[in-house]
Amino acid sequence: MNKNILVTGCTGYIGSHTTVELLESGYNVIGIDNFSNSRKSVLTQIQKITNQDLVFYEGDILDGDLLETVFSENQIDAVIDFAAFKAVGESVAKPVEYYINNISTLLNLLQYMQKHTVKKIIFSSSATVYGDQASMPIDETAKTGETTNPYGTSKLFAEKILQDLYFANKDWNIAILRYFNPVGAHPSALIGEEPSGKPANLMPIIINVALEKFEKVTIYGDDYDTIDGTGVRDYIHVVDLAKAHVKSLDKIIKENGGLDIYNLGTGNPQSVLELIKAFQIANDIKIKYEVGARRPGDVAMAYANPAKAEKELNWQAELDVEAMCKDAYQFAIKNLV
Ligand code: WQD
Repeated sequence: MNKNILVTGCTGYIGSHTTVELLESGYNVIGIDNFSNSRKSVLTQIQKITNQDLVFYEGDILDGDLLETVFSENQIDAVIDFAAFKAVGESVAKPVEYYINNISTLLNLLQYMQKHTVKKIIFSSSATVYGDQASMPIDETAKTGETTNPYGTSKLFAEKILQDLYFANKDWNIAILRYFNPVGAHPSALIGEEPSGKPANLMPIIINVALEKFEKVTIYGDDYDTIDGTGVRDYIHVVDLAKAHVKSLDKIIKENGGLDIYNLGTGNPQSVLELIKAFQIANDIKIKYEVGARRPGDVAMAYANPAKAEKELNWQAELDVEAMCKDAYQFAIKNLV
């Protein structure tokens, strides 16, 4: 009997790609989304890619009546929680909205999971919880807590809530997945990254330059102590990231209790300049850029040691930076022009 998985934020960037991989791996999906940072048409695209249907409820995770309906109408075996705001800069300007949307939603969800005896959850966290780390690559034992913005702090608080929950209930299965820098799109070009409002992340900005919506990329500083002075990150293809969620789910479905944290990255550091150059080569296009001032809150380097996920989840990122750049651009020219 196929397991039923509740996916909150199922039409978002990571949520939609994970829903595709779940359906293609034989799981049934019950999705919830309020379309605050996504479009209803993503549901149709998911069905086109997978040729499968999912049960869907429109609404907000803060709505207790909705959650009561969802848990009462479906036999849910596990939950994957993507529903959150994720723009670092916006979080600095709107801290209350970020803590409500990223913390209160999780607490509401956990309340209804407890009520309906659903004790398996995968939580979408972020490498931002590590703040500025002295040594690279970053593994899961690295110190957390030095977050520099409400988005990162909301993820840190959420992780603490889950750790306290597990401390009190050892029969829960909890997986905390810390994403590094997700980029790219599904190779079908039917789903991808569609940031609402002005994009802040590097790849969407490169895409906007490629689409001639922006004139150039401003590189935020080239005087860091890195290979070429520009910021270094661990860019991971969103399809690889989605597949890691399926592997994590396979593991918690089999287990009877546990809390694990995994860094999801490729382990391959890429600088801003290297990503821009890779994008130009992959798509045979010129991307104009200039060097500007550092962005407050940025760290010089952040890339993962993915060894724990590779070993315990039997997962490894397979798609390279060329695929990330090609897939991101193909989605953009077919959907964002
Ligand atoms: C990457 C690099 C910038 C824009 C954040 C969140 C993280 C995740 C991804 C949700 C840095 C440089 C960027 C530009 C630039 N979010 N840059 N010019 O800050 O590493 O991570 O987004 O999952 O949790 O913390 O990503 O893409 O903003 O920046 O030079 O116009 O690109 O300085 O070195 P970041 P980013």
